[in-house]
Amino acid sequence: MPADKNTNPYATKLDPEEADRFRIISGRANPALAQTMANELGVPLGDVFISDFPDGEIDIKVNDDVRGRDVFIIQPTCPPVNQSVVELLLLIDCVRRASADRITVVCPYFGYARKDRKDEGRVPISAKVMANVITEAGADRVLAVDLHAAQIQGFFDIPVDHLYAKPVLISHFRKLVMDNPVVVSPDVGGVKMARAYAKDLSADLAIVDKRRVSAQETVVEAVIGDVEGKSVLIVDDMISTGGSIAEACRIVKKFGATKVFVGATHGVLCGPARERLENSGAEQIFLTDTIPNPNPPKNVKIVSIAPLVAQALLRIHRSQSVSDLFNENNKSLKNR
Ligand code: R5P
Repeated sequence: MPADKNTNPYATKLDPEEADRFRIISGRANPALAQTMANELGVPLGDVFISDFPDGEIDIKVNDDVRGRDVFIIQPTCPPVNQSVVELLLLIDCVRRASADRITVVCPYFGYARKDRKDEGRVPISAKVMANVITEAGADRVLAVDLHAAQIQGFFDIPVDHLYAKPVLISHFRKLVMDNPVVVSPDVGGVKMARAYAKDLSADLAIVDKRRVSAQETVVEAVIGDVEGKSVLIVDDMISTGGSIAEACRIVKKFGATKVFVGATHGVLCGPARERLENSGAEQIFLTDTIPNPNPPKNVKIVSIAPLVAQALLRIHRSQSVSDLFNENNKSLKNR
């Protein structure tokens, strides 16, 4: 879809001609996010029928004409994870067989990402399996936000646009009152992300020394860096059971942090997460809406990633640079 040279690269809505070629449809994983994105772009959300057969199989029909269209399927593979994955695959197959011109899978939260390597014998590389089935079903390209590991992009042999929630979260962090701010990574794996936030906020960096004992349990023994007398901002890609964040909050307070804030892209929030977050001592926890959380814990604020992702969709449709969205000089997402 070549860009019209007269198209304003910072226009936030599709013009009528573009809108006719563009289709945005959603599975059941996060229809509110899809609707907000459709509103951002000034197009209707596609008409899709989805229900479950009595045996649990999924029944799907896309009621809109998608022949020759540039189709975007919005489906984070969040809980119920396996339903979200299968539904996504069926949606891809559905629009492929309906002769869509191009299919972009918009998977703001890419599930199964934490199993991204064979770290012991006889285990799957689940993230690679997910990449394989999405591609095999017929996706032409994929968009994801803050993949658990950036190298998961390489599991796909189709283009992947990897977006960062940082511009969205950081606009909220800048409003916090933080004396001597220090950005803390809750584990060694998150250092790169934490460093990027620290740089943008002109803050120091510290790292929690976390060891995972099981899928549900982590042990924290030390903090690398100085948090004493400082305001701490803990950043992570996701909060699942809340164990990592609760432990990180506990240890930075033990080592003298005065205030603790938390920001994470994906709020999976399963199992004991609500209780752990509410009792964590964090003054405010920011999560984006890549995953729906209609009734978040009382110290959680949900901030929307929809304008950012919608702009990326518009740029993909127009064959414009997506990475330009993240240039510091790009004003299209400021003050929203
Ligand atoms: C770990 O590598 C991730 O970045 C998160 O820290 C982790 O998955 C969070 O899980 P939980 O909330 O269950 O501790």
